[in-house]
Amino acid sequence: MIRSLFLVLFLSSIALVITGCQYEEPDPFTEPISIVGGSLDPDQLNRGREAYVLYCYACHGMEGDGDGPAAYGLRPAPRDFRTGMYKFAGVAEGMAHDEDIKRIIKDGLNGTAMLPWEDIPDAQIDDIIQYLKVLSYYAEDEDGEIDAAGWRAVEDNELGERAVAGDDPWGASQASEAIKRGEAVYHGQANCQQCHAAYITKPEIKAAYKATNNGKEMTAEFRADLYEPLIQLSEYTVPVREPLQYKAATCEEDEDCSGEGNMCVYGKCSRKLKVLPPDFTFNELRSVRDGTELQDLYRIVAHGIQGSGMPAWKLQGIGDKDLWALSYYVHSLSKLKDTGSALELKKRLKAQE
Ligand code: HEC
Ligand code: HEC
Repeated sequence: MIRSLFLVLFLSSIALVITGCQYEEPDPFTEPISIVGGSLDPDQLNRGREAYVLYCYACHGMEGDGDGPAAYGLRPAPRDFRTGMYKFAGVAEGMAHDEDIKRIIKDGLNGTAMLPWEDIPDAQIDDIIQYLKVLSYYAEDEDGEIDAAGWRAVEDNELGERAVAGDDPWGASQASEAIKRGEAVYHGQANCQQCHAAYITKPEIKAAYKATNNGKEMTAEFRADLYEPLIQLSEYTVPVREPLQYKAATCEEDEDCSGEGNMCVYGKCSRKLKVLPPDFTFNELRSVRDGTELQDLYRIVAHGIQGSGMPAWKLQGIGDKDLWALSYYVHSLSKLKDTGSALELKKRLKAQE
């Protein structure tokens, strides 16, 4: 934790040197701000902004655009708070709940620059969370209007349904049955290997398909590189900076942004981020980010990862017991991570190709 604080202070001081101390004290909040689902207290927002600038701005940027001085080249890139969309808030659609944002801030995201902020007192974290809402509430379009994409500002938007894991229907005594069932659903009905790696042989995948699709035979072809994850294009954008430039080019329309795939997002030239689904048995640098306990995996599998292509499986017709089975299965795979058996399995599976 101390290490991360030093990192932020160090990076912030570089930022000040680079930007020539351009930071101007913003006007304090004096009036309550009403947003969907409530009203924000000005004193709390002032405290929240101060703490945000101290701890978060270096990566997430002064305007919350994910373009802070320390963000350059970070992958995954820091979240752009202006859109109000979160990956790991455990809601398949709708607005994130404060509890989930708090969990993310306190636990951090494994294998990313988003470290666990264990030492910030709870009250201060609460202040920051309220301030984050302002950053997205004020998202404006080119005409300075509140943009519908700044979706906290949308009148009829609602808090999403939280993914809360109920009782585990399998339990420790049935763990091995749960893993077997999870393996079948993963490779059969859910076809997770469409994006993630597969972990069983091709004849086994056909059998899993049949077993989880009322005895129907699998007719689809296997994709190429079935035993490696497939990179996906996400909805998240990152400002595009020229080498050695502190800020991305500003823009009013897409035409102002040169370079293939570049687009104008809230006044900055940006492009969509690619994301690699994790291989559960491999790669130190690409771990599961949002926790590896069964309950965490349930939350992720059931409610998906907004904006990244990872579906909310609860809404895809997978029943609760099978959602748990999938969590057991992914959990068992992650226990193999970077072991000799993981390597052997990978070699054996790839030898079929
Ligand atoms: C050293 C850089 C860095 C700092 C400092 C930092 N973050 Fe992050 N943050 C990141 C990165 C990188 C991600 C994206 C991780 C991902 O997409 O997997 C992220 C993601 C997030 C998310 C979104 C997760 C989601 O579900 O989409 C929240 C919320 C967040 N940070 C809050 C904060 C807050 C609050 C602070 C200050 C207390 C902070 N961050 C400080 C780098 C940082
Ligand atoms: C259409 C593509 C797609 C499919 C199908 C898919 N996923 Fe994912 N999944 C992703 C992507 C992309 C990520 C990485 C998102 C990120 O970190 O931005 C991911 C991440 C994950 C994670 C890690 C989350 C974390 O905290 O880092 C788990 C666990 C997971 N998927 C499980 C599954 C399971 C189980 C299935 C099948 C039931 C499945 N996925 C099907 C695209 C997919």
